[in-house]
Amino acid sequence: MKIGIIGTMFLSLSFADSVNQQDGLWIAPDEANNFTNPYAEDEAAQAEGREQFEVYCWPCHGYEGRGDGIAGVGLPVKPKDFTTSNVTMQSDGALFWKLNTGKGNMISYESLLSEEMRWKLITYVRYLAENGSVLSSKNK
Ligand code: HEC
Repeated sequence: MKIGIIGTMFLSLSFADSVNQQDGLWIAPDEANNFTNPYAEDEAAQAEGREQFEVYCWPCHGYEGRGDGIAGVGLPVKPKDFTTSNVTMQSDGALFWKLNTGKGNMISYESLLSEEMRWKLITYVRYLAENGSVLSSKNK
């Protein structure tokens, strides 16, 4: 019985994953929308998030979050452009869930960064998403 349930879960998970790989969609579960970003629109948190983004995330996501980082070029599923509606329409909670969960080359950051820092990163991702082209501190 146990094996049956686990087997079914595995099958449906790998099926969902192959579907997502094909159409490029990655959808967070509805519950994720209930997580509230404690640092939403907090400028100090956004600045801290930016520092971390420019350490961990830019190689794939690009300094401006356009998904054009040098390390993302060869990936089978490209990092999405944070400024497109596909990303801007998602809740902070959904993006946080993705950062925690990971998928394919987007690894899970849950055990790598504190919860606080993960939310601050989402605050910065949201800022990039809504402000489009920003000059990174490295370009100034
Ligand atoms: C090795 C490359 C790589 C690195 C480094 C990386 N990502 Fe990603 N990221 C990806 C890829 C590829 C996807 C798309 C995954 C998919 O849709 O299958 C993604 C997706 C995402 C998404 C979901 C966007 C959407 O389409 O809904 C968020 C949010 C995100 N990354 C944030 C981050 C943050 C924050 C960091 C740094 C802590 C980071 N990523 C580091 C490759 C990377």
